[in-house]
Amino acid sequence: MTRGSPDPTVIVDGTSFALHGNNFSYLFHADDGTGDLLSDHFGGSVTGPMPTDPTPIVNGWTGMSGRVRREFPDQGRGDFRSPAIRIRQSGAHTISALQYQSHTVVKGKPALPGLPATFGDENDVTTIIIHLYDKYSLIAADLMYSVFPRYDAIVRSVTVTNKGKGAIVLEDLASLSVDLPFGDLDMIYLRGEWARETHRQRRRIDYGLQGFRSSTGFSSHSHNPFLALARPSTTEFQGEAWGFSLVYTGSFAVNVEKCAQGMTRILMGFNPDQLSWSLGADETFTSPECVSVYSKDGLGGVSRSLHGLYRNHLVKSQFATANRPVLLNSWEALYFNINSNNLYRIAQESAALGVKLFVLDDGWFGKDYPRVSDTAGLGDWVPNPERFPDGLAPLVKDITALKAATLKSTKPSTNLRFGIWIEPEMVNSKSTLYQEHPEWALYAEEYPRTEQRNQLILNLALAEVQDFIINSVSELLSSADITYVKWDHNRCMHETPSPTTHHAYMLGVYRVFETLTTRFPNVLWEGCASGGGRFDPGVMQYFPQIWTSDNTDAVDRIFIQFGTSLAYPASSMCGHISAVPNHQTGRTVPMEFRAHVAMMCGSFGLELDPTELQPEERAIIPDMIALSEKINPIVLTGDMWRLSLPEESNWPAVLYISKDGSQAVLFLYQLGSKVNHALSRVRLQGLDAQDMYFVDGEGPYSGGMLMSVGLQYCFETDYASKVVFLEKESVR
Ligand code: DGJ
Repeated sequence: MTRGSPDPTVIVDGTSFALHGNNFSYLFHADDGTGDLLSDHFGGSVTGPMPTDPTPIVNGWTGMSGRVRREFPDQGRGDFRSPAIRIRQSGAHTISALQYQSHTVVKGKPALPGLPATFGDENDVTTIIIHLYDKYSLIAADLMYSVFPRYDAIVRSVTVTNKGKGAIVLEDLASLSVDLPFGDLDMIYLRGEWARETHRQRRRIDYGLQGFRSSTGFSSHSHNPFLALARPSTTEFQGEAWGFSLVYTGSFAVNVEKCAQGMTRILMGFNPDQLSWSLGADETFTSPECVSVYSKDGLGGVSRSLHGLYRNHLVKSQFATANRPVLLNSWEALYFNINSNNLYRIAQESAALGVKLFVLDDGWFGKDYPRVSDTAGLGDWVPNPERFPDGLAPLVKDITALKAATLKSTKPSTNLRFGIWIEPEMVNSKSTLYQEHPEWALYAEEYPRTEQRNQLILNLALAEVQDFIINSVSELLSSADITYVKWDHNRCMHETPSPTTHHAYMLGVYRVFETLTTRFPNVLWEGCASGGGRFDPGVMQYFPQIWTSDNTDAVDRIFIQFGTSLAYPASSMCGHISAVPNHQTGRTVPMEFRAHVAMMCGSFGLELDPTELQPEERAIIPDMIALSEKINPIVLTGDMWRLSLPEESNWPAVLYISKDGSQAVLFLYQLGSKVNHALSRVRLQGLDAQDMYFVDGEGPYSGGMLMSVGLQYCFETDYASKVVFLEKESVR
């Protein structure tokens, strides 16, 4: 990061500010009279001067500040829409007047203290910091805007400093606040529950306040910190769309407010029910950052911008876009019924099928309180001596001595790798840790400590708890050749002792993640929270992949994975082939369909007992592994086009196109069989119209033909599928 000369992406003219990406502009200025920061434009590229807005005729009860588009609306001076900041001043009122004072332009992007954040050097990103000041209460607020022009993305965070003498309390703070001048917009968001996360929802924005919020203490299964806005006519491929994504793992709030004048305000940041942060003299508080992207190519454009930005400028891991090993996870294979014998047996079978990584899930730990069910053991991260009399090391040694069969795979033979499951933020009351440190759990005075899944949550706001986790996980990872970790988190936060606990916990979690992932950079870290309960950009900074849902039913997974892909790249998703009937839904679907759905994700694997496979299932797994390995690089790094959505079509389809455009892979699914119905036709997107492509070796066909006429396949049964490989003729 260097201070430097003006940059074409950030142009300052007096107190007018223009931030430009390749295809968008974001304009605002400081009002000469009031010093308020006013929004001018967030949308398609704009160059040259703009006409001055006529002054609105003020009739009625709402004064001027309630009629203008404000960049960082504070409270108490006549704007009756929702504020971006609410400060309980030392005098007990909540009025503030944050006005433009100065600005600084910086090439690159400063880090956010203790928080996950997008990163980039001076060739990737430019930052402008607008310094606001309330001369009455002596409070400063810095708005930091960073532009990533290649991704049509702008990232904003806010830092508040108390320069006065009395203590103030931050009661609300939105990382993003923007007023769009339109009143005819749709909002698109992701809703769900455990085992049915990230279902896409679209509805018209109406007058008044609407939105959603997580209160669970983490981003949650029910809501995701992502919002898109779109014109009513916007589709996956066409029309204006805006995407907003909060880089945070804690509770959050999204507010969308269509006001009486017809404009629409968007706020995204902390959940104010769980923020009450006291700032003494000279103390500072920084919000998480929110990413905003603009696309004129529909919702697909929003997703592709976020995917690219997150793969290249958010995930810190060396594995961000690296090919992922095909794995087998022991959870749905054995649940808690594990020991070194049955684990070795399924590891052997896994290796024989061509699996590359064996993952030992829950149930391996606990000495005095063995983890043989979900009622005990969390917190005691030592191997269960009855199940592993010599510890884990001998088992890990035996498993990593197994050679993964090559069978249909063209990859060179490798030894099986070993991975392990942990849930370090938790404690069972039946554990040695809890006996020794009951004060480390979250609790509020004498109120009962409510258990969820028989467990309590440790208070990661405490440095000693953070250190305990860092040390016990470090010891575990140093005890054997463990090269993958699945980090789980299976309950919500309640009985929080103080109004600062929620955010202080998140700062603690981030310190732990940062320390461990830096200390063990060669470990492939996977996030998990009963599936996708913490699928958010904050986790992605440290963990390049996240277990997408505990629901492994392939039909349900199509909805979940398409929904997740609105905000998150396939490289961050995990999909596993599980046994039939499926353990969550009882549904039986063919092995090929299960595999084709799972390999839509960057991390592909199996989660079943391979010794119980039917012969016909076993026979095709090596082909599926070979196919997944062939297409994995395109899935991990390519541009994703959702060609038809499961909510709208019996034939959902998705296409990934490699960055250089030379290869592509099409996934096409039939949910239910149709008698006497025209065959489904899938028209591709994003190809070069003039170029010729081989389609599974046939052709070549022109990109124009593939996009305008499309391809047809004949499916005869329910749950049929096809994965099609395309290659440009010119690169063969
Ligand atoms: C919840 C996870 O999402 C599952 O995959 C599994 O790891 C269990 N926890 C183990 O308790």
